[in-house]
Amino acid sequence: MARITASVYTSHVPAIGAAMDLGKTHEPYWQNVFTGYEYGRQWIQDNPPDVVFLVYNDHATAFSLDFIPTFAIGTAAEYLVADEGFGPRPVPKVIGHPELSAHIAQSVIQQDFDLTIVNNMPVDHGLTVPLSLMYGARDPVKGAWPCPVIPFAVNVVQYPVPSGRRCYELGKAIRKAVESFDEDLNVQIWGTGGMSHQLQGPRAGLINKEWDNKFLDRLIDDPAGLADVGHIEYVREAGSEGIELVMWLIARGAMADAVGGPKPVVKHRFYHVPASNTAVGHLILEN
Ligand code: DHB
Ligand code: FE
Repeated sequence: MARITASVYTSHVPAIGAAMDLGKTHEPYWQNVFTGYEYGRQWIQDNPPDVVFLVYNDHATAFSLDFIPTFAIGTAAEYLVADEGFGPRPVPKVIGHPELSAHIAQSVIQQDFDLTIVNNMPVDHGLTVPLSLMYGARDPVKGAWPCPVIPFAVNVVQYPVPSGRRCYELGKAIRKAVESFDEDLNVQIWGTGGMSHQLQGPRAGLINKEWDNKFLDRLIDDPAGLADVGHIEYVREAGSEGIELVMWLIARGAMADAVGGPKPVVKHRFYHVPASNTAVGHLILEN
């Protein structure tokens, strides 16, 4: 049977991707960010997943305002790297896992979550920057990501967006789906986006270190309680784009303790300000 062995949480700041693509990672400003990912890069070499189920948000790249799925699961064999205005990032295309995707879609929809099934979806920085952070630079032509990735896009851009509670419950359903896939696969689930940031309006540049760290504390120790935090608190305390953090609750809901199992082991925790306009957070939990 397939199983979820770990969850990884990380910000997806586009400037981090640009720093890697333009060879700036050793500049002092960026060094402070990348140092926080050294542990994770070694850890993932030592604990390589067969498949990554990657929860992220599309930033009006694949989905325009014409139609906005709340939860969209990629079921394709591959996903091209999106052009977000400066040409596609120089990273490999993403290879999917259509069989596991289709199985998860079937199981999760039958558990009463209405997923949108997507067979053609270019993936933006929300998905590629976390891959770059964990796996390092990869040649876009000769290289490849080390394993298949299932993109799972959540609408956190256009209100109404899903609640933290809904996301946490969805994580439980995804766990159940993975565990009923009849193949011995090591699956990691990643929750991306955040942490506090606001890119627009009079509060642009907002960072809230205290709130972010409390979020990390509660994500580890009290995820069910954290799931009850409403949108207004995210927006007020973590800024308009801080709402991306609800996606971390999907990954957290897929851990064993959400359904009565043992608590996860905290392998790594990192928090740093600034990276572009954003507080960077990163966590690795093992089941
Ligand atoms: C920035 C951060 C994001 O998460 C994003 O999606 C876009 C921009 C930023 O810090 O600039
Ligand atoms: Fe974002």
